[in-house]
Amino acid sequence: MLKWRELYDECLKCDKCELCKNKTNMVFGDGNPRSKLMFIGEAPGADEDRTGIPFVGRAGQLLNKGLLELNLVRERDYYICNICKCRPRNNRTPYEEEAKACIPYLRNQTALIKPKIIVCLGATALKYILGSDFRITRDRGKWIERKGILLTSTFHPSAILRDQSKKASFWKDLKDIKQKYDQIKE
Ligand code: URA
Repeated sequence: MLKWRELYDECLKCDKCELCKNKTNMVFGDGNPRSKLMFIGEAPGADEDRTGIPFVGRAGQLLNKGLLELNLVRERDYYICNICKCRPRNNRTPYEEEAKACIPYLRNQTALIKPKIIVCLGATALKYILGSDFRITRDRGKWIERKGILLTSTFHPSAILRDQSKKASFWKDLKDIKQKYDQIKE
């Protein structure tokens, strides 16, 4: 297992898939690496690629705002990253080989953080973290425990931007996550 600096440097020079060829910045992760709460999205979008910071675009701002309303502050309460650390062109879903090339880095990152709660944001994170038997519309909001870690999923915030009818479920899931977080903090 690599330490933070080594892992970051490995990701910077990674060429295990094609995504590195078109990236501006590798998007490693952001927030509090000592937090017990970790969010995992899909892959950087244009704003993330430009800044090197995950979830700073419209979808990210929606998520940040929702979490902030629950008094969950990125720098203090959670860590956030993605299945893939480089942007797929036109924000397409990462190909399986791209996700699989990047996941060992995410695993190492998770081992360093040692979260007690992991939240998968959207179908891609759900598929690669919990497995392809899971479906976001059917299984979001459910909790399962694996190796002492509580795992759940909710809609990706970009899905809320596209479809307002998902907003109430998304909000409920965030409130449940906050409740679990308060419990594990005690
Ligand atoms: N969507 C994601 O899944 N991740 C980001 O960092 C930004 C948008």
